[in-house]
Amino acid sequence: MNRLILAPMEGLADDVLRAVLTSAGGYDWCVTEFVRVTTTVLPHSCFTRLSPELKSGSRTASGTPVRIQLLGSDPTVMAANAAHLALLHPAGIDLNFGCPTPLVNRNRGGAALLDEPELLQRIASAVRQAVPREIPVTAKMRLGIEDTDRALDCALALETGGMQELVVHARTKADGYSPLVRWEWIARIREVVKLPVIANGEVWNVADYRSICAATGCSDVMLGRGAVADPLLARRIRGGGDGVEQQPTAADWQEIRRMIEIFWTRVQAKVTPTQSPGRLKQWLAMLQRSYPEAVLLYRKIRELRLAPEISVALERCAQGSPMPCVGIESASRSQSTVTSYHDCRDNRRYDARGQLIINTN
Ligand SMILES: Cc1cc2nc3c(=O)[nH]c(=O)nc-3n(C[C@H](O)[C@H](O)[C@H](O)COP(=O)(O)O)c2cc1C
Repeated sequence: MNRLILAPMEGLADDVLRAVLTSAGGYDWCVTEFVRVTTTVLPHSCFTRLSPELKSGSRTASGTPVRIQLLGSDPTVMAANAAHLALLHPAGIDLNFGCPTPLVNRNRGGAALLDEPELLQRIASAVRQAVPREIPVTAKMRLGIEDTDRALDCALALETGGMQELVVHARTKADGYSPLVRWEWIARIREVVKLPVIANGEVWNVADYRSICAATGCSDVMLGRGAVADPLLARRIRGGGDGVEQQPTAADWQEIRRMIEIFWTRVQAKVTPTQSPGRLKQWLAMLQRSYPEAVLLYRKIRELRLAPEISVALERCAQGSPMPCVGIESASRSQSTVTSYHDCRDNRRYDARGQLIINTN
């Protein structure tokens, strides 16, 4: 089956970035940022604001299905919202039991529920019953709050509650985003449940993808930050056939550059001129991990505050003179991660954050 899913990422993978990332191909579906459910049934505008794709058959422009994620702790209200959302024909509904954000957790949402498997089951079951069978209802969980003691109970509870598939982010809430990821727990969960388990956590390149599949036994993987850092990652994993190498190359940058232009145009149309520069910098900062050209482009724009200034910098990058993103040679990579590069315009070597490390003059 080997399915690849683009992860929900609140404040990062909105409809604009989802459209750009899925345009590169390789994804079976993607998941929206979470919709917070508290005490009321939300109007349809709340769902369509977060997922404008609902107005286009719940698919991105390139045709990738978009599932909507709900986060909440009251089974009745969650079910009522899911039923209301179902009227918009989402490609699927996903339930969030992984968010570690203090604000969300204080209000009993996300990962905060992971020591109450019985509640997880009641939420899952209420939502499943409220939604027509043809709409998949899935869940995404971390391994626990402080420890993994109840990870298996939670997975079993979600299965009993009728979840069709389960994404497991292989960390506890306390782990945060520590690079130490517990893939072995995904394998343990797979041993006790029958529903399809989708592995998630710390896949940045093709080698990581192979490792997570080997460690967990999963053939389905959800990609999060790795997909943002390398928009061609899903295609690389799929093995190309379209000239994409296993690791990012200088030739790939041309495609990424076009994606950045599209992203910039769309993000400016969506958010205010004071917000748009931050959105571009956020993405570029992550692209630096895979593309030395992004390191240089980021250095060029990080001090710019105004959208028109950024547009000029991007245009120069596209035209080639003076080019903020040429002149990069001999990038060193560890796995697929850029560690340093040589900029032939000043004949100096920089580390991945753009700090000068060796002066070869
Ligand atoms: C900025 C950011 C926002 C996130 N927002 C959500 C979210 O709204 N819902 C969710 O289930 N997970 C969310 N996550 C977790 C990711 O979906 C994913 O589980 C996590 O990043 C681990 O995968 P990765 O190592 O491939 O990034 C978020 C992660 C990041 C980095």
